[in-house]
Amino acid sequence: MDIGNILEDLFTQNQFMAAMIVDKNGTILSISDTYLRVLNLPKAKVIGKPVKEITPHTRVFTVMSTGKAMVGYNWKINEHNMIASTIPIWKNGETVGAFAYSVFHDISDAKNLVENLLAELNMYKDEVDSLYTAKYNFDDLVGNNHNFKKIKAFAQQIANHPSTTVLITGESGTGKELTANAIHNSSSRARFPFLRINCATIPENLLEAELFGYEEGAFTGAKKGGKPGKFELANGGTIFLDEIGEMSLAMQSKLLVVLQEQEIERLGGKHPVKVNVRVIAATNRNLEQMLEEKKFREDLFYRLNVVSLEMPALRERKEDIPELGRYLLGKVNRRLRTMVSDISEDALELIKQYSWPGNVRELENAMERSMILADMEYVAVLNPRHLGFLNSRRDFSITSEPINLKSATQDFEKEIITKILKENEFNLPITAERLDVDLSSLYRKIKRYDIKLKV
Ligand SMILES: Nc1ncnc2c1ncn2[C@@H]1O[C@H](COP(=O)(O)OP(=O)(O)OP(=O)(O)O)[C@@H](O)[C@H]1O
Ligand SMILES: [Mg+2]
Repeated sequence: MDIGNILEDLFTQNQFMAAMIVDKNGTILSISDTYLRVLNLPKAKVIGKPVKEITPHTRVFTVMSTGKAMVGYNWKINEHNMIASTIPIWKNGETVGAFAYSVFHDISDAKNLVENLLAELNMYKDEVDSLYTAKYNFDDLVGNNHNFKKIKAFAQQIANHPSTTVLITGESGTGKELTANAIHNSSSRARFPFLRINCATIPENLLEAELFGYEEGAFTGAKKGGKPGKFELANGGTIFLDEIGEMSLAMQSKLLVVLQEQEIERLGGKHPVKVNVRVIAATNRNLEQMLEEKKFREDLFYRLNVVSLEMPALRERKEDIPELGRYLLGKVNRRLRTMVSDISEDALELIKQYSWPGNVRELENAMERSMILADMEYVAVLNPRHLGFLNSRRDFSITSEPINLKSATQDFEKEIITKILKENEFNLPITAERLDVDLSSLYRKIKRYDIKLKV
């Protein structure tokens, strides 16, 4: 069997793979038949040509200059959606070219699968990361809103009091975990562990062993030699009790004892062990209300609430959206290797109008989704079209001004027509179709509301 021939055939004739090789100047040395079919070009028009002339958005130059492979990005040529990878070719320690290949046929299913897997993988990565280290610092807390800055400054002060217990409240995705990380990292405990416990996901019957550990023989199935709990493992550092509102009343009593005594007792243990940890607790539940409903212990609440930080919702600090958006743009670009460099003013407007029930986390997810769309179109600036999925959740905050239903309806009508017009580059028939009205009535409304038609 001649491996050389097999490889040659695999490269040139594999139906599922579009591949090419370029030299270090970006001249195409070799190209597979499949790629030629996708490009709809004869071989003679491609070999020896600069790759930029054939595929202007090529990433071979980035790959050759950084020496780093780019794997699994979206790539679209002549209506074919593909998943592409480009890898540098080395010889004697020097980059001499690049190999680019794409798996193309209809990959929408595969893409969904990969996206789901990636989301799952990221979730596990987050879990693993957050178990062992605190990765964020105060620099990662972006925002200039007055209230936000006040809270951030307060958190920075708390960092200097390494034994003070902290309670962080706020809606989902407002940066509670990030703040806990930052407090730990800028405190004198930074070189000791930061351990996170998610009180909502650990089954009730395991939480005690998880927090306090157990001795050998403490229960059936207990490991030989016993096991230290998170409080012992975090000694010297910080323990982050996330979703504390989900902790059972029984467990709350045990936690209270630990906080008061600064010592823990392993399950089945005979002696208490001294521990030196700072406790930071967080929740998106309303603990005061839980106190009233007797679902949270009052004594524990006051013990935790020595210092409390209430993270503001994103909708209360919309002036931070441009800065946050650009910060997240960089973060997502680095993570997904997308190349989206900015957000248009119109897109920022749209983002500001949305109500953001999931706060910064949701904004980050929305940015990610829209950046993938933009990247697939090789568009470097996010525009409202990429954020179309936000439509359904506008922030119609009730103002103190009196509301006149007719004028509110008209305002809404004007806004929605303007928006759909812009999305469709002021193409009237398409806009009429999208809005499900006839062209003549669309004309009338455009005139009545004096909507500007740009060309
Ligand atoms: N002020 C901020 N600046 C930059 N990024 C932020 C900010 N707030 C939150 N984020 C980002 O948003 C995401 C969610 O933040 P975090 O996990 O800290 O929220 P949370 O309040 O703990 O949410 P949940 O209650 O859902 O657990 C993270 O990726 C975080 O980095
Ligand atoms: Mg959290």
